[in-house]
Amino acid sequence: MKRDLSKMTCIEDLRRVAQRKVPKMFYDYADSGSWTETTYRENSSDFQHIKLRQKVLVDMENRSLATKMIGQEVRMPVAIAPTGFTGMQHADGEILAARAAEKFGVPFTLSTMSICSIEDVAENTSAPFWFQLYVMRDREFMEDLIRRAKEAKCSALMLTADLQVLGQRHKDIKNGLSAPPKPTLMNLLNLATKPEWCMKMLNTERRTFRNIVGHAKNVGDLSSLSSWTSEQFDPRLSWDDVARIKDLWGGKLIIKGIMEPEDAEMAVKSGADALVVSNHGGRQLDGAVSSIKALPDVVSAVGSEIEVWLDSGIRSGQDILKAWALGARGTLIGRAFLYGLGAYGEEGVTRALEILYKEMDISMAFTGHRNIQDVTKDILVKGTY
Ligand code: FNR
Repeated sequence: MKRDLSKMTCIEDLRRVAQRKVPKMFYDYADSGSWTETTYRENSSDFQHIKLRQKVLVDMENRSLATKMIGQEVRMPVAIAPTGFTGMQHADGEILAARAAEKFGVPFTLSTMSICSIEDVAENTSAPFWFQLYVMRDREFMEDLIRRAKEAKCSALMLTADLQVLGQRHKDIKNGLSAPPKPTLMNLLNLATKPEWCMKMLNTERRTFRNIVGHAKNVGDLSSLSSWTSEQFDPRLSWDDVARIKDLWGGKLIIKGIMEPEDAEMAVKSGADALVVSNHGGRQLDGAVSSIKALPDVVSAVGSEIEVWLDSGIRSGQDILKAWALGARGTLIGRAFLYGLGAYGEEGVTRALEILYKEMDISMAFTGHRNIQDVTKDILVKGTY
């Protein structure tokens, strides 16, 4: 039976339910940033400082947020961001989120660090999805991932450029987050108080980390997984590798994690189809500016040569509208969908998308526009961005 989620009126409502339902160590994994979490917080609060201009008594009937991201039609300029261990928020989380995205009409991106594999998602969805690639020291394994993504007919490869080394999240260390979770008293107590969550998980063992387990060398079980992955992110990754990956992939390429105009220019030279202005949701370089502050300089440097997108900090449709007005031709949402997933599974992700859509649509109307294609910086109050 379909649940009535109409009382979930904003992303914050979904966040609160997820916090209640998901075991602490897994909820904290999603809802945290690196070190002091300053960048994590500013990613969202900087959106609030940008003000919209209201325009009245213009025809606002028949509105549309539809556009294209790398040539793909989308109902609004939003795609689901790649998030690792998504299945920890809800059993089969990657499949459920991909289904919700497909039904809603926005793209889904599967992370290299997903729990359900590329094949699991392909078997359980019909729309092509995007695959996010972390470049691993084990290049054979990486090439195998690219081959599998091609076989699964993924329609774009998203290369994440900002994770050659790992930002430190205090909460994960304190919670003893690992796969499988360390059997500390706190963790056991936490799992024991979430029977609904545990029951859901029990059925999904077969899907666990199949992207990696059994494929990467020396990783045969879950306990060797954590140490293998943390050693595997390749600190030597460079622009030369990007060219090689582009050749291997041969399809649409998105580079994620660009914050500076010079790097954006390199992304253009590399032949990428889109770049994502992103600080990884405040999980990597703490002290970096928010993505929305970094966006205008990147857009003025390369906005006419490549699709510039943005992620980090989006919690409302107004945020997406502001990013669009500043030149982002697409956005990715991370926590906004994870909260929905942790709270209500597939229906929760759908609800998150509905909330964002409605907020964006109505706010656009208030600024005097019916079609997102007509929206420019003019809807923003000068001096606030
Ligand atoms: C991420 N992110 C991420 N990015 C990526 O390229 N590969 C990954 O595996 C992950 N994993 C991941 C896990 C979790 C729990 C989060 C919250 C984020 C970053 C993600 O793609 C995106 O950049 C941010 O989530 C955007 O910020 P918001 O929307 O969460 O504020």
